[in-house]
Amino acid sequence: QAINFFCLYGAYVLGKHWVATPLNGFWKYFLRPRKNLQARYGEGTWALVTGAGDGIGEELCYQLAQAGFHIVLLSRTQSKMEVVAKNIESKYGVKTKVVTYDFSALSAASEGQKFEALMKKETGDLDISILVNNVGMGWMGSFHTTPSLKMFNLLTVNCASQVVVSRYFLAQCAKNRQGKKCALVDYSSMGALGNNPPPKLIQYGATKAFNLWLSKGIAAEYAHTLKQNPGSEHNVDLDVLTVHPASVKTQMNSGRYPGTVTAAAHAKGVIDKLGWDSCTYGHWVHAARDFIMDYEPFKTINKMQWAARRRAFLKEKAAQEAEQAAAKKIEDDKAAEQ
Ligand SMILES: NC(=O)c1ccc[n+]([C@@H]2O[C@H](COP(=O)([O-])OP(=O)(O)OC[C@H]3O[C@@H](n4cnc5c(N)ncnc54)[C@H](OP(=O)(O)O)[C@@H]3O)[C@@H](O)[C@H]2O)c1
Repeated sequence: QAINFFCLYGAYVLGKHWVATPLNGFWKYFLRPRKNLQARYGEGTWALVTGAGDGIGEELCYQLAQAGFHIVLLSRTQSKMEVVAKNIESKYGVKTKVVTYDFSALSAASEGQKFEALMKKETGDLDISILVNNVGMGWMGSFHTTPSLKMFNLLTVNCASQVVVSRYFLAQCAKNRQGKKCALVDYSSMGALGNNPPPKLIQYGATKAFNLWLSKGIAAEYAHTLKQNPGSEHNVDLDVLTVHPASVKTQMNSGRYPGTVTAAAHAKGVIDKLGWDSCTYGHWVHAARDFIMDYEPFKTINKMQWAARRRAFLKEKAAQEAEQAAAKKIEDDKAAEQ
């Protein structure tokens, strides 16, 4: 009987992983239609996208505008956002609003208050139903050699931005959108999944783990609140979608890793999942990659890729040292001539 039980259990585990999961993935990534997002979050409402001037953020703006939302672009470089805003308006006929803000300023509570005041002034009269916390920066290198400004910017741009913008958005939803559905899309990364922090990317990975955990925490808290206090004015009826992509070719990522996808294809995949799922890779290539990489021998090959990345960095370091030595030699020669 015990043997029968183990056989049945084994068949269940294998069937779930090798049959049900791929079939479910095929349904999600290839067959399932996109939700009617205007009907779900409100006709003529606004979507607020951080880091909207470039890369994934720019493409998410196009996807949301195509779905009929007016777009608030919130990022650092005004000129880039103005170009994107113009494209959106001429292509999709929706309204746009450009708000310029440098998230690296968010290093104190007073800066958070200034940010909220700016948002109230710029967007207080807009009915924002969707927030995309996309803004982020990367850094690759040894932990102890990271320039200290870079280290703090990673915390402010990647983590503090998510806290402050989400807080502003959820307060607005609780105040102005009672009984209406809202959506929060948070950007984490595949580097934050599993138990292997990626070498040479550990600070970036840690900030992305923060993004993942805050996103999942907000999803749990607001789902719970809705059930516990039906009708309370503090409730927010919220869809939360946590995004953890692998390699997407953008300004941040030169795209030399296997399985790199375009920002446009990734962004389409993300908006297709909105209202359906609580987390996504965005593109099927990244979902398939993670599914396969979980198993031997690919797990080991994946670890070898980390080793390759380490070797690449050692090479980079050697080149840097050679450059410094050459510069020193020029200085020494000059000193000797004098
Ligand atoms: N690309 C990937 O392979 C990948 C993989 C996993 C996760 N992600 C995540 O996806 C998100 C978007 O990444 P991406 O590849 O699209 O990056 P990106 O091409 O570098 O674009 C980042 C955007 O954020 C803005 N930004 C950067 N620092 C800012 C600051 N201090 N204040 C305000 N705005 C700032 C940039 O503005 P400027 O134009 O002024 O620079 C730009 O518009 C990030 O959260 C990232 O962690 C990316």
